[in-house]
Amino acid sequence: MPMSRAALINAAQDCDVLAATLGDQLDAEFFEAAGSRLKLVANFGAGVDHIDVAAANARGVTVTNTPSVLAEDAADMAMALILAVPRRLVEGVRALENGDFEGWSPTWMLGRRVRGKKLGIIGLGRVGEAIARRAQAFGLAVHYHNRKPINPHVEEGLAATYWDSLDQMLAHVDIVSVNCPHTPATFHLLSRRRLELLQPHAYVVNVSRGEIVDEAALAELVETGRIAGAGLDVYERGAPNEKLLNAPNVVLLPHMASATVESRIEMGERVIINIKMFADGHKPPDRVIL
Ligand code: DGY
Repeated sequence: MPMSRAALINAAQDCDVLAATLGDQLDAEFFEAAGSRLKLVANFGAGVDHIDVAAANARGVTVTNTPSVLAEDAADMAMALILAVPRRLVEGVRALENGDFEGWSPTWMLGRRVRGKKLGIIGLGRVGEAIARRAQAFGLAVHYHNRKPINPHVEEGLAATYWDSLDQMLAHVDIVSVNCPHTPATFHLLSRRRLELLQPHAYVVNVSRGEIVDEAALAELVETGRIAGAGLDVYERGAPNEKLLNAPNVVLLPHMASATVESRIEMGERVIINIKMFADGHKPPDRVIL
């Protein structure tokens, strides 16, 4: 359970360092109330959309996160969704559990082949790149949209195609994977208008942050068959939209993409390293730079 806001503000008055998680809303008001003793927020997690980093920095507070250690695990889960949704994996498990399986038939539980499809990654950073490597092995063609193209050698190694225009990429690909951070600029980046650019056979996968996708629009488009399905680990309001909960062609996970024992241990280690470096007067390795 996250600490209450009052308890957090209270504790921060007497602390030089705060080890936070994504349940802690550290906005400008918090940093104002926290007083002048607080010098470092060492976040246990990669995403820092719950922290007003600019407000922290303006008050002399450094913010660190744990970006690299969870990327491979998050990519595994994104890949699991990229496979599970078109291949109707969860629907199949449910059918068996509900006693609906009456034996093999040529037309039973037909999904869509993954090999040969086009995957569009929005945000080819650490997680996006790890997904691209996996996607390559599964025979997917990798497309990506970033603010600018990645290193040409890495791009070549991934056989990845860069799209300057997100709209054009969306209209072209079969599966979209959301992997950019949530910032004011990426809120509802996948807006209704953009979701409607997708082809009707397309799928949406999101292990980043729910706020990047207009979830109500996605739920409606999936429900009406305008989009083929979705695999989500994150939601706009913590819990998924009711329509998504009831849709058969959707796989929903409870924000667990980075949930491995190994990643949690390594995240903890990064928090400690960042605190130690900072306490010793050095620049912490995972300082969040705006
Ligand atoms: C992160 O690191 O931001 C994940 O979403 C939680 O582990």
